[in-house]
Amino acid sequence: MVTFIAVPFVAFVTKVYSKFYDKISENLQQTIADANNMAEEVISTMRTVRSFACEKREQKRFENLLSSTLSVNRKRALAYMGYTWNNEFCDNAILIAVLAYGGHLVLTGKMGKEQLITFLLYQMQLGENLYNLSYVMSGLMEAVGASRKVFNLMNRKPQFELDGVKKPHVNGNITFSHVGFTYPTRPNNPVLKDLTLNIKAGETVALVGPSGGGKSSIVSLIEHFYEPNEGTITLDGMHIKDINHIYYHQKVALVAQEPVLYNGSVRHNILYGCDFATEDDMLNAAKMANVHGFVMELEKGYDTNCGEKGVQMSGGQKQRIAIARALVRNPAVLILDEATSALDTESESLVQQALSRCAQERTVIIIAHRLSTIEKASKIAVIVKGQLVQMGAHDELMLDTDGMYYSLVSRQMLNAKVGDE
Ligand SMILES: Nc1ncnc2c1ncn2[C@@H]1O[C@H](COP(=O)(O)OP(=O)(O)OP(=O)(O)O)[C@@H](O)[C@H]1O
Ligand SMILES: [Mg+2]
Repeated sequence: MVTFIAVPFVAFVTKVYSKFYDKISENLQQTIADANNMAEEVISTMRTVRSFACEKREQKRFENLLSSTLSVNRKRALAYMGYTWNNEFCDNAILIAVLAYGGHLVLTGKMGKEQLITFLLYQMQLGENLYNLSYVMSGLMEAVGASRKVFNLMNRKPQFELDGVKKPHVNGNITFSHVGFTYPTRPNNPVLKDLTLNIKAGETVALVGPSGGGKSSIVSLIEHFYEPNEGTITLDGMHIKDINHIYYHQKVALVAQEPVLYNGSVRHNILYGCDFATEDDMLNAAKMANVHGFVMELEKGYDTNCGEKGVQMSGGQKQRIAIARALVRNPAVLILDEATSALDTESESLVQQALSRCAQERTVIIIAHRLSTIEKASKIAVIVKGQLVQMGAHDELMLDTDGMYYSLVSRQMLNAKVGDE
């Protein structure tokens, strides 16, 4: 009886403690993750940090994050100390109580000396085992706290599945019908509203409009990064979500507004995700995108490393490698989101020539600000605040002198003239 008198108390303390320890372990993981994230972000954007002379400030920010890790760790250590202290205290208190009561029983002759010693030995062993159990408990709670996040991530349901299976022959007819779209992170800011747009196979369509109007968002929807909230997007009359993911992205290629290169050779970057292409395909694409010339001047040619995120390439070279990467898969639909904005006029016109050569047998969607690029498109769609306000060929749209396109073009011509003077 005396031995077990403290058990309910110890059990209660253990329960409270384990709850607390579990929570604090989770907190600790979070603060470590925050500090690591920050370090990674700052190191990968070191050039920006240095150019704004924010080294000290970032150092301070990191220090603050580390000190919050420290304070959580301190709390955890204190809790552990309290718990162990409590356990030891109960252990010793029981020992004293057993000795006192047992001594009393021996002295009054109700119990033999041998029996008391045997009992004490058993009790010590039991105490030791319970003590070890508390160790296991702490470890277990720590693991539970840390693993909760892992399980949360593992159990996360994707908002939509990439489970399309169809592999149809693609001509390149893209239709948006009454598409409404809002980014999940900003549910109150609709980006596209009732957008209906038809891009016929083989056409080159330019999307123009003010910045923030939703052009890149249209591209993200065609690339199936998101699903529209309303309406449908079809390729040759088939819902794009029904088409096999890998097949779809072989047929629809994108050169993004901010192209990303990987740490690896130029060859690796051009052939990215395109196992079926041969060395000749790669060379052809590189020549078309005007990559071949500058790569041949580099000591290692196509084996030259591009650096992490392509830092060892110039902005224009990155864009051209990204164009070659899109062309190498010989897509039916080619999307260029300001893909030539970082090129000088001469390289741009070379790349433009190459693009218009390969535009003949495919659908091209091009987003650009330069008039010279836009006016060659067979159709121009003017997107303002997520809506299609005008669509037609350059000459046609220029006739409407009150239209958005006319004012965009006249402003640009004015700029060009000022630039010439
Ligand atoms: N990932 C995102 N999450 C939330 N909102 C976004 C996201 N990307 C863009 N937006 C918002 O959606 C709107 C449309 O952006 P979008 O990038 O489509 O414009 P854009 O027409 O391509 O502009 P630009 O000519 O400057 O490239 C903007 O108001 C922008 O702030
Ligand atoms: Mg954009």
